[in-house]
Amino acid sequence: MRPSLILHGGAGSPAPEFSADRRHGLQRAFTAAWSMLEQGGSALDAVVHAVMLLENDPTFNAGIGSCINRDGIVEMDASLMDGATFHAGAVGAVRTVQHPILLAQSIMQAGQHVFLVGSGAEEFVRTHGIPEIAPEQLITERQHRRWRSAQTHGEPGTVGAVAFDTAGHLAAATSTGGLFNKHPGRVGDSAVIGAGTYADDALGAVSATGVGEAIIRTTLARTTVELLRGGVDPTQAARQALTIFRQRTASEAGVIVIDALGRVGYAHNASAMSVAYRRGDALVIEAD
Ligand code: GLY
Repeated sequence: MRPSLILHGGAGSPAPEFSADRRHGLQRAFTAAWSMLEQGGSALDAVVHAVMLLENDPTFNAGIGSCINRDGIVEMDASLMDGATFHAGAVGAVRTVQHPILLAQSIMQAGQHVFLVGSGAEEFVRTHGIPEIAPEQLITERQHRRWRSAQTHGEPGTVGAVAFDTAGHLAAATSTGGLFNKHPGRVGDSAVIGAGTYADDALGAVSATGVGEAIIRTTLARTTVELLRGGVDPTQAARQALTIFRQRTASEAGVIVIDALGRVGYAHNASAMSVAYRRGDALVIEAD
């Protein structure tokens, strides 16, 4: 089977001066994850790898470069789901891990729990050999400048990946630093299975981005997947989900989707959403 892959780098009002950096970051992550899929790698490994690369890239609001909360600290959320096994892992409000998506994967692999938060999640980091990072190393000069000046525009993006592998399996992953100046302890949709992330081989897989509180209330990822029933085109399902979302919340979001046949789609109702996907043999990146 031919693989499929789509990445997002967040929806909202991105700073135009970082458009080239966003484009470059998405291209690098897409190329690496695509090559894994082409060589027969699993959808799960591909989405984790893509999100790890985006977490390392200070252009995006995930891992290094994450938004800073009200107290001047980075607290990150991430989740992933395997559409083949229905296994999932998620972390909320973690402060000491460079790759929250690796921690989410490790929780999933351990099998006992789905969702760990705060200090308990950080204890899991220490006991499962996941690389730690000093909290101050997650803070970039750009984010610190924004925080000092309470500058809310030019929000960098949450990151997400959805993949369909050569065996026909789906996976989705999402990672974020959350909202700028958020309340300490706030956890958004990117940590919540069904809201920011969902995958089911029988229907499709989704990663969402946007205003987390509204995405949680509408369980946007699961809602989008449900709208794929009956073979609905993924872009159509994504648009329909965003229509419901807007009607119910008057808020902004975007979703990337792959259905059970490997067809790719996306939609958003924000001023912009960064995405990378393939159309035929060409890589398409929208990052302005
Ligand atoms: N969608 C990212 C967040 O609200 O945390």
